[in-house]
Amino acid sequence: MTALSRSVLVDADTARERIAALRPGDAGYDPVLAARFAEHFPTLHRLFGEVYGTRADALEALLAVVDLAATSWRERPEDLRALDARREGDPFWFGSNGMLGGVCYVDRYAGNLDGVRRQIPYFRELRLTYLHLMPLFASPEGNSDGGYAVSSYRDVNPALGSMRDLAALARELRDNGICLVVDFIFNHTSNEHEWARRAVAGEVVDGVAYEDFYLIFPDRTMPDAYERTTREIFPDDHPGSFVQLADGRWIWATFYHFQWDLNYANPWVFRAMAGEMLFLANQGVELLRMDAVAFIWKQLGTTCESLPQAHLLLQAFNAVLRIAAPALLFKSEAIVHPDEVVSYVSPQECQVSYNPLQMALTWEALATRDARLLNQALERRHALPEGTAWVNYVRSHDDIGWTFADEDAAELGIEGYPHRRFLNDFYVGRVPGSFSRGVPFQDNPRTGDCRIAGTTASLAGVEAGDAGGVDRVVLAHAIALSTGGIPLLYLGDEVAQLNDYGYRDRPDEAGDSRWVHRPFRPAEAYANREDVTTASGQVFSRLRELIEVRRRTPELGGGRLLPFHTGLRSVVAFQRPGWTDDFPRVIVLANVGDDAVHVDAMTFSGVDHVARELIGSTDVDLRRGVDLPAHGVVWLHATPL
Ligand code: GLC
Repeated sequence: MTALSRSVLVDADTARERIAALRPGDAGYDPVLAARFAEHFPTLHRLFGEVYGTRADALEALLAVVDLAATSWRERPEDLRALDARREGDPFWFGSNGMLGGVCYVDRYAGNLDGVRRQIPYFRELRLTYLHLMPLFASPEGNSDGGYAVSSYRDVNPALGSMRDLAALARELRDNGICLVVDFIFNHTSNEHEWARRAVAGEVVDGVAYEDFYLIFPDRTMPDAYERTTREIFPDDHPGSFVQLADGRWIWATFYHFQWDLNYANPWVFRAMAGEMLFLANQGVELLRMDAVAFIWKQLGTTCESLPQAHLLLQAFNAVLRIAAPALLFKSEAIVHPDEVVSYVSPQECQVSYNPLQMALTWEALATRDARLLNQALERRHALPEGTAWVNYVRSHDDIGWTFADEDAAELGIEGYPHRRFLNDFYVGRVPGSFSRGVPFQDNPRTGDCRIAGTTASLAGVEAGDAGGVDRVVLAHAIALSTGGIPLLYLGDEVAQLNDYGYRDRPDEAGDSRWVHRPFRPAEAYANREDVTTASGQVFSRLRELIEVRRRTPELGGGRLLPFHTGLRSVVAFQRPGWTDDFPRVIVLANVGDDAVHVDAMTFSGVDHVARELIGSTDVDLRRGVDLPAHGVVWLHATPL
């Protein structure tokens, strides 16, 4: 036995001594919990050791975490325990071709939680199986970064409802086949959170010193040292990574000045956050969107992004869940270099992840009418570990950043910096002939950095009245719906909602152009959704067909994807072989160009010429090749020879 495993046993025994539920023979003994503890405690212990091993209080904090997990499990409602068992029996349930996500702001889309409940019939009509409600927790009045500044993880913003309403909604959604997703904003709290107030006041409560919950420095010495290597994230709000407190000290704030980063070098922060996470798990949340994962660990002399400890901490949170709420999954929000994005994805860390590369390159291809970068990414950057999935989306509530790898672009003769500049100019409509009506976000003239805001329809040309606008909206969604994993719709985009410039007149929003693409529920567009003389009706009817086709096509499930080469620059092309190598498969072809193209019969020489075009259900003879109109998409059901 190695020294490490011996020490694990000693600590496991210490935990068992303290926690009745883990003690065989004790009246409170819980065999299910004990089995999970035996399986996952060694992992948790190892991770804790790696991150906090040098601290004298590491073991004490770890035992406090286990205690928390045991209490949380004891309180876990019966229906959620049943869900745990179901999910454990079918761990890759979220890879089904029937999965479809939707995301919305509670207030903007439905007024409040009760309004969301009343939308359930529509969600069913749309075939949603996953609903992400944007941050709905108590947060500061006025600007709260759209709720991403959380003042209490246990209270719903009273304007939206209560925690009891949220738990009831989670149950009702589940009864309708929809899992509830909420944000876990664990990198920072708002400056109004109780921990933040105690930190500033220097309070110590029950032996916990709250000043150590955040990164507070007496003067600029350390902030200056850190800022030599960190990136500015919200330069419109404040330069650098720190803001000054009223008493002259400096506190770490990566995002807005009222969002204070937590100090994860302190294990009691981990314990406190694990408590909030388990609380949400027991309300019936099934998936936590792990906000800003890249930023949770800071180390002098580094970028303070995606450091190894960030991964260890996510894995440790995950291990806690496996003990106390195993149904729950993590979705990583890492909008960084593609190598880093995938580093968060594994069954032990985040089981699902946004796919920002595919999202950004879909827009890149539409602007350039050149699909090469996207095809290259699909070919080399799509594969994920077994048991994990991408969340594929066309756009989110955030800006679009051009996070492709410069080295990938260079292989195609594309230079990263000028190409990003071109894309920014194109999408804000500064390039002559651009179809887009985007708005710049965090335009930083000093670094040349800029990102893009805008709804799908406005970015794709519908707002500008471009003839290809509707087709581009459909094409972008057709890609997100066919590359596997969980496709995620920004609710309202399925009826071609346009930019909302009203944010400029709303003082709390005027300084943040992302509000341009967070419109209120577009009631008129929804009312027109069956009227195909409107853009809303056209987009809706075509997306609905894609969704239906996807649902009945198992080859579109899972995440496996194989390349397909057409030799045509404007054609996005790949194959989806479904779960196994058993045939047939789906060949996806999408033309981002403004001219029709012909995919030559030779291209299909590896498959039987008798094929079926799934969109529109027509038979196709591949000996004649395939004609793709401008911005056209086909999903060919074909059988390899
Ligand atoms: C994430 C959110 C974004 C927010 C930031 C800070 O990136 O998606 O909207 O501003 O985190 O919480």
